[in-house]
Amino acid sequence: MADQIRVLIVDDIPETRDHLTKLLGFESDIEVVGSAASGTEAISMASEMRPDVVLMDINMPDMDGIAATEKLSTQVPTAAVVMMSVQGEADYLRRSMLAGAREFLVKPFSSDELTASIRQVYTREQEKLSRMAVAPAAAGIGLNGTGGDGAGEHDGQVIAIFSPKGGVGRTTVAVNLAVAAAAELGKTVVLVDGSFQFGDVGVLLNLNPKNKSIADLVPELEAGDPELSLDTFVIQHSAGIKVLLAPPSPEMAELITPAGVRRVLDALRRSNDLVIVDCTSWFNETTLAILDAADVVLTMLSLEITSIKNMRLFLEVAEQLGYDNPKVKLVLNRADSSLGIRVSDVEGSIGRKVDHTIVSDGRSVVYALNRGVPFFLSNREAQVSQDILRLAQSIAGERAAAPREEVRKTAQKKSLFSFR
Ligand SMILES: Nc1ncnc2c1ncn2[C@@H]1O[C@H](COP(=O)(O)OP(=O)(O)OP(=O)(O)O)[C@@H](O)[C@H]1O
Ligand SMILES: [Mg+2]
Repeated sequence: MADQIRVLIVDDIPETRDHLTKLLGFESDIEVVGSAASGTEAISMASEMRPDVVLMDINMPDMDGIAATEKLSTQVPTAAVVMMSVQGEADYLRRSMLAGAREFLVKPFSSDELTASIRQVYTREQEKLSRMAVAPAAAGIGLNGTGGDGAGEHDGQVIAIFSPKGGVGRTTVAVNLAVAAAAELGKTVVLVDGSFQFGDVGVLLNLNPKNKSIADLVPELEAGDPELSLDTFVIQHSAGIKVLLAPPSPEMAELITPAGVRRVLDALRRSNDLVIVDCTSWFNETTLAILDAADVVLTMLSLEITSIKNMRLFLEVAEQLGYDNPKVKLVLNRADSSLGIRVSDVEGSIGRKVDHTIVSDGRSVVYALNRGVPFFLSNREAQVSQDILRLAQSIAGERAAAPREEVRKTAQKKSLFSFR
């Protein structure tokens, strides 16, 4: 049958392989195409058989499931891995997801759990492949910059994640949005921690703060070295995105000037489809430089009276700054956690429709936060992940409708900031 899901089983214990093969034999839409006893064997079998899904044991003697998954993700990227483990430990989950596994099953699992995971992973993968089949034709023109010098430069979008109040989920959304755009839409994404004093992006992505940061990059860009390689400053994260961290200590934020920020964003947009910047919640010159440079300002709010009040003030300032309606998009986070305030109340109060909503899901979000794995990777089926994906799709689809803001109303901005 052409539309059966082709599954490869990988486990070093023969009884487990037999048991899984028998279990899956009862399912008419699933075909077990082979079983491998080791990571090495799995890779050679997968290269030959091109399975849709690989059921991978995590603990194996020669090459463990994580190393095998990492190899598979480059050698047979169409094979989606479902990891199986007797331990449900956070570290295992984290490492599996970062290696590229799509699901994580803790043994013992029921046959329903097993088949549901296989079907879900398969459906998701098919959706992704069909989206990617359409995307290159549209994206390729911009990506390869076929005209002119052929240097492969392109004009990526800068997406600022801002909110006029702290703690409403900017960093959470910035990180997961970046991962979603890379993993599901095939975009090249760089995530910039624009909270230069107390940036949290590195924590959510479990990155070593000793890595290079924007504080190292700004002086280099200002020195104007034509040979400068951005890759030295930008971290390649295993979640498929690049990251430019905030400085390791708050006092270093002073080194970052508005002109420096502009240079950084310009340089990054030349080599990426999306530059996503997690901003601070207060106005200062550098935040303004980011908002100015942005094509889209995703402005976040929550169903709290203080958030709504600040949003009203921000929208007034945004208007004075000349940011038009399509540039500023309103994202209501934890939209279902209504404690007396409804979405319609918010819209009435700020005089504008909310553009996107994201549900509240403390379990997925905090679990992910404490483990340093974006929930979009570890819990892709959750509604909160679906909401993030919708946001990513709408941003990616809006390119044509949102021409770059030309630099304007500079005098007006200056006067706004003179009373700070
Ligand atoms: N949709 C959501 N559902 C549940 N919890 C959420 C959601 N979004 C964010 N949170 C939680 O809210 C808290 C604040 O989120 P986050 O740190 O992303 O906000 P922030 O705006 O970046 O804050 P800060 O002002 O500290 O930079 C975190 O504990 C996060 O886990
Ligand atoms: Mg934050």
